[in-house]
Amino acid sequence: MIRIAIANQKGGVGKTTTAINVATALAATGWRTLLIDLDPQGNASTGIGVSAAQRERSTYDVLVDQAPMESCIMHTPIPMLDLCPATVDLSGAEVELVAMEDRAHRLSKALRTDLPYDVCLIDCPPSLGLLTLNALTAADTLLVPLQCEFFALEGLSQLLTTVERVQQRFNANLGIIGIALTMFDRRNRLTDQVADDVRSCLGQLVFETTIPRNVRLSEAPSHGVPALIYDHACAGSRAYIALARELLTRLPEERKAA
Ligand SMILES: Nc1ncnc2c1ncn2[C@@H]1O[C@H](COP(=O)(O)OP(=O)(O)OP(=O)(O)O)[C@@H](O)[C@H]1O
Ligand SMILES: [Mg+2]
Repeated sequence: MIRIAIANQKGGVGKTTTAINVATALAATGWRTLLIDLDPQGNASTGIGVSAAQRERSTYDVLVDQAPMESCIMHTPIPMLDLCPATVDLSGAEVELVAMEDRAHRLSKALRTDLPYDVCLIDCPPSLGLLTLNALTAADTLLVPLQCEFFALEGLSQLLTTVERVQQRFNANLGIIGIALTMFDRRNRLTDQVADDVRSCLGQLVFETTIPRNVRLSEAPSHGVPALIYDHACAGSRAYIALARELLTRLPEERKAA
């Protein structure tokens, strides 16, 4: 099982939308996919069609009470896609974890590689606190959604510094699979400029696929279905299918054969 954290401490940049739709695309290609909601907002859980009332155990139980991951996973309406949901009590986990010795490794211990999945995506909250640290410690690699706006690069350098620290202290094998430009608006010259800057700064690290600003992507969560199912032909869905495809080409060969 390859573990991919989806993180950016900036809020509202498209982490959850990316997690949901890439997970759906991977599941559609036959990968046994696990989506882990590590954000107390629970947007990934809601967006995939699992209402708060349906959630019993959650990532809180995994992190704080060390419940086995299997006991917290539930099926979603989407074939091949399972979910470890988040509930609001996860907002307290950050504080509760501080006192615990292995606080950075809780998720890593729970996400054993022998779980029956080919890939696991971890949707992180908008901060670099203990929840995101747990995701980066548990992950093989990181996918960064980046919104093309003025402060994007500044926030990114802070994130990359955190990644270096995690590599030094907690997870030497943490890679970066790529940066995905999100909410791209071709008509906006600033967006274009920022995208050019990011590409010239970071080169190959940036996925070729950009995710356009697309209203269907923002409508889908209120219907509790991934955009890919809500409207599989819209520009946003097509972009996420292309992104998932590009992601697959970046995974090591032995993983693709899984
Ligand atoms: N490409 C897009 N086009 C239009 N709207 C989008 C797009 N991507 C995301 N959105 C919308 O923008 C908002 C923020 O997106 P999303 O929740 O995915 O970001 P996030 O980084 O997970 O946010 P948070 O930091 O709060 O967890 C949501 O309302 C979402 O529906
Ligand atoms: Mg989110």
